[in-house]
Amino acid sequence: MTPPLAPVVRTVNLEKIYQNGGVPVPAVRGVDLQIEEGEFVAIMGPSGSGKSTLIHMLGGLDARTNGEIWLDGRRVDTLSESAWAVLRRKKVGFVFQFFNLVANMTVADNVELPALLTGASAKEARARREELLDALNLTDRADAAPGHLSGGEQQRVALARALANQPRLLLADEPTGNLDSRNTRDVLRLLGRVHAKGQTIALVTHDARVAGMADRVISLLDGQIVDDADVAPARRRPRGGTTGDVIELRG
Ligand SMILES: Nc1ncnc2c1ncn2[C@@H]1O[C@H](COP(=O)(O)OP(=O)(O)O)[C@@H](O)[C@H]1O
Ligand SMILES: [Mg+2]
Repeated sequence: MTPPLAPVVRTVNLEKIYQNGGVPVPAVRGVDLQIEEGEFVAIMGPSGSGKSTLIHMLGGLDARTNGEIWLDGRRVDTLSESAWAVLRRKKVGFVFQFFNLVANMTVADNVELPALLTGASAKEARARREELLDALNLTDRADAAPGHLSGGEQQRVALARALANQPRLLLADEPTGNLDSRNTRDVLRLLGRVHAKGQTIALVTHDARVAGMADRVISLLDGQIVDDADVAPARRRPRGGTTGDVIELRG
């Protein structure tokens, strides 16, 4: 018998306490979370509830204070920064709230870079870039520098870059926060395709249209999960033999 698949994401009593001039600021307070392969999870909650901190920790961009983080059955909260960098490049795409594009590279080069760093040929990287820029209505911006783009364009480039290596796990912090309705629609369509391919998505959003596409909506308040609801049980894949104590308030 094959063992049940490990969840793509698992956290155990995850905590983040920032130090603000010697004053502890608890940002994430004991989060137990499991995300199964292929799930699309939206994380919502008021400003300051710990959404960004949580998603940053899942991507290895912020160190946890206590608790455990597992990705694909492998413990990762103990990894070095360089080991994290390798893991992210191969498996995790991250869309930052404020984009973090490489300023002195063109849009095309920003999107091709992740594939080139993992050993794709120039031809492969280019084909992938063309496909993503086309899907996000950015083809005519390929030769522009990020600084010459609008906020909404930069946000879509950041999404294209995060998807360049077809990551198993896509993490995004408010990926439609700067978009008008047309570009939101393009991003939603692309996320829908990513989801349909079986890639796992966890994103922070304030946008009900984005959350409406998710299989599951998690609500954070003061650094804790206060609600975890399936919104589309029919579309959900079955969970494989998990025993995590995720708070589940269904309805
Ligand atoms: N670098 C930091 N140093 C100190 N406190 C921080 C830092 N980043 C976030 N915080 C605090 O942690 C809490 C959660 O912040 P954050 O994760 O950004 O919330 P959200 O993304 O839900 O708005 C807030 O109280 C915030 O002020
Ligand atoms: Mg935030």
